[in-house]
Amino acid sequence: MPITGNARVAGVMGWPISHSLSPKLHNHWLSVMDIDGLYVPLAVRPDDAVDAIAMAGRLGFRGLNVTVPHKQTALAVVDNADELATRIGAVNTIVFDEEGASVGTNTDGYGFIENISQRQSGWDFTKGPAVVLGAGGAARAIVVALMEAGAPEIRVCNRTHVRANDLVSDLARPGHAEAVLNAVLWEERDDALAGAALLVNTTSLGMVGKEPLDIRLDALPEFACVNDIVYAPLETRLLRAAYHRGNPTVDGIGMLLHQARPGFEAWFGQVPEVDNVLRLHVLAGTQE
Ligand code: ATR
Repeated sequence: MPITGNARVAGVMGWPISHSLSPKLHNHWLSVMDIDGLYVPLAVRPDDAVDAIAMAGRLGFRGLNVTVPHKQTALAVVDNADELATRIGAVNTIVFDEEGASVGTNTDGYGFIENISQRQSGWDFTKGPAVVLGAGGAARAIVVALMEAGAPEIRVCNRTHVRANDLVSDLARPGHAEAVLNAVLWEERDDALAGAALLVNTTSLGMVGKEPLDIRLDALPEFACVNDIVYAPLETRLLRAAYHRGNPTVDGIGMLLHQARPGFEAWFGQVPEVDNVLRLHVLAGTQE
């Protein structure tokens, strides 16, 4: 459909932004659903993020995705951040209402759960402990999502141990019958896999241009699901090793695809689907 004067506009704000796959993803949905709308990349320097988020509402944007390094800034500047974004400490999705007031949420954990549930049909997150490698923003969203999904125990293992400790003390909720959170030393990551039902890599290790993730999977039960949120390359060394020893594996691109759905629905009024055509479209040209 041609873009008219009534087109709904949304975008993704980050610095840098040229690597973002979100424009390709949302514009594919707009095209297949024949929606009069547009989704644009917005390269916004860190010093300009506060003004740019406010201005987007005044310019008539329906909403924004917010990515590195603006997610914490977005939490601080939105008019209303929901409980989930506040708990995680970051906003990745903003919806502007009729008056231009901004509501912020975080859909990264939703994307994580939906990806594993789709690729390992109906995966049961309650069936055993989860090991989360990393303690950055992505790890925070994933730990909260795992707690909500009923994981009985979450072992957070990070190179810089104080960040794992901080994550655990920020997210643990004493008095709530939720997951037990434990910070594990990076040097103990191999042993931390004993008895786990899920292993997730949220670090940048294994990504194109970075060192591979160095971990021995010997202690991991064979039924455990292994997920890498890295998607360039799609098959990381971690996923290959897990696959070869018989573990179910889930690659990282689906988390990106699913986290985009709630924003799209709020801005453009239709529920988008994540299917293989979308996966291939978004991945095209990313794996060289
Ligand atoms: P994001 O918000 O995407 O999670 P981040 O906050 O930069 O990004 O976190 C990156 C994660 O990768 C961190 O857990 C980081 O560990 P540190 O907290 O010790 O920095 C982890 N990471 C990056 N390079 C690493 C390396 N060479 N070895 C181990 N962990 C690494």
